[in-house]
Amino acid sequence: MTRLLITNALTVNEGRSRVQDVLIRDGRIHALGADLSGRSADRHIEADGRALLPGMMDDQVHFRQPGMIHKGDIASESRSAMAGGITSFMEMPNTAPPTTTLENLEEKHRIASQNAFANFSFYLGGANDNIETIKRLDPRQACGIKVFMGASTGNLLVDDPVALEQIFTHAPVIVATHCEDTPTIEANTRRFQAIYGDVVPVELHPSIRSEAACYASSRLAVELARRCHTRLHVLHLSTAKELTLFSDLPLEEKRITAEVCVHHLFFSDADYPAKGNLIKCNPAIKTKQDRAALLTALSRGVIDVVGTDHAPHTLAEKEQPYLKAPSGLPLAQHALVCLLEHVHDGALTIEALVERTAHAPARLFDVRERGFLREGYWADLVLVDLNRPTRVDDQPVFYRCGWSPFSGKTFRSTVVATIVSGHLAYMEGAVDPVPAGMRLEFDR
Ligand code: DOR
Repeated sequence: MTRLLITNALTVNEGRSRVQDVLIRDGRIHALGADLSGRSADRHIEADGRALLPGMMDDQVHFRQPGMIHKGDIASESRSAMAGGITSFMEMPNTAPPTTTLENLEEKHRIASQNAFANFSFYLGGANDNIETIKRLDPRQACGIKVFMGASTGNLLVDDPVALEQIFTHAPVIVATHCEDTPTIEANTRRFQAIYGDVVPVELHPSIRSEAACYASSRLAVELARRCHTRLHVLHLSTAKELTLFSDLPLEEKRITAEVCVHHLFFSDADYPAKGNLIKCNPAIKTKQDRAALLTALSRGVIDVVGTDHAPHTLAEKEQPYLKAPSGLPLAQHALVCLLEHVHDGALTIEALVERTAHAPARLFDVRERGFLREGYWADLVLVDLNRPTRVDDQPVFYRCGWSPFSGKTFRSTVVATIVSGHLAYMEGAVDPVPAGMRLEFDR
């Protein structure tokens, strides 16, 4: 299909919402206008006033390929993301083998070019011993360098201070960090093991992966970035205290930016008794006060981007005792409808949601011709019905792991259709079998 016409859509873009038509031709937005109904098209979607947003650009996902495809692979997880309105993703290096060489990075791109249902890029992983590889990276080859400043799933911890400083000094692209102080976490774990032995309750997860652990590591990252003039992006903030490290300057003036994730804006520590290990993740979900502060910071632009940290594990893995169960939640399929709850609640305007899910990631990573509804840009779009509820348990879960932490929830909105690079990839529950994702390009 080369021409797709969408009429009477409530487009939300660059701070403005208005009803208009969109003509897509050869993958790109050909025209935006008050009345394009006379234009010929191969397919027509009458939006009936429903919201048409630039697709979400998720700057943090774990799709598990290569090496852990029993949890998910690029096809299965990008399909679920796409069905949820995510049209581009940036994937993390803690696969097996880890993405710490340029060869492994290109291999992921090769797999994605044949299997991804959304547009894609991959992070190169920082390690204690790969500074020469990092220096050789072409800035257009990867979305960024991911540095685990705290240990999480996989073994990519950069705990050598010299290596860390070298990466912060020489990275040719944005450095995205996971910030949790591992010695603090290990000390907390030992303290609780002394009391509970091997049966530490999951409710203690936010006391183990504590506010102090997050703050110490995020502060170190910010200090290091200031000293080394690094373009730093701190991922998945989870505490109010860390917010003091960031500013609400306009994005273009910032050298240090921050991300928050869907689950840290939705769940709180009150959910551990019901959800248990299913919401065990790193960094941990903290208090209601933290959640409220993160939401306010997102609305005010202290936090720049919202991502998912989609990180699937099987139910069998999650059913192990707390200390053994892996951290991470599958989130991508319901991320957008979950975020739209904050719009329904009046905590976030829909224009701000579009800013933080699409415009800001596109600008922050210098993504070429995506993330906005602009003539000539790639047509990455999501059509949303804000008045049709999604009952999570009524839908198939597309993740390979087959479960969702949102089971039992009903969201007030529904993703009706997703368009990826001009391709109608999802419509009313039906997934087009053609993986239409393209490699993201960067204006760097
Ligand atoms: O909870 C998490 N899971 N946090 C991470 O940083 C990694 C992720 C995973 O890969 O499972």
